Amino acid sequence: MTAIRLHPDNRRIDAPAEMASFLDDEGLVYRNWDVSKLRGELRDNYALTEAEKAEILATFEGDLETLKAEGGYVTADIVVLWEKTPDLETLLDKFRREHHHTEDEVRFVIDGHGIFTIRGRSGCYFDVRVDPGDLITVPAGTRHWFTLAEDRQIKCIRLFQDPAGWAAIY
Ligand code: LAC
Ligand code: NI
Repeated sequence: MTAIRLHPDNRRIDAPAEMASFLDDEGLVYRNWDVSKLRGELRDNYALTEAEKAEILATFEGDLETLKAEGGYVTADIVVLWEKTPDLETLLDKFRREHHHTEDEVRFVIDGHGIFTIRGRSGCYFDVRVDPGDLITVPAGTRHWFTLAEDRQIKCIRLFQDPAGWAAIY
């Protein structure tokens, strides 16, 4: 994770220990997992087959099982946003609108970058830039939005508490 940026004064937090304690105080889970254990092609390739997606999930199976037990997550999948994602701009327009979910938003970044803007407990907003290896959970009910960074692509593992579906409440 590169840094946290606090609105509205742009104060940056980039010392790892300070970032971890800030996120902990806000109720967000933050972890860093070793992406180097993934075959290079699985990191670089954004046009993944179902078999390749399954291989990514299998590579992190141990980490995922631990997190599932801790957070009550029952399913996992892979989400990819890149130039060839159908209707990328429409999707990004949705993600950029403030919303929340009735379950945690859990993302483990395999490749690419993204920026979550989150409404903190005090009502102030902050940005969390996520990089490869970062795992973040935005707790259920927490208002947030999301956007891509300069490279305009991200590949993540998502975890869900409710297999029935994932909905955004604007
Ligand atoms: C989501 C993220 C992008 O709701 O906030 O999927
Ligand atoms: Ni969301």
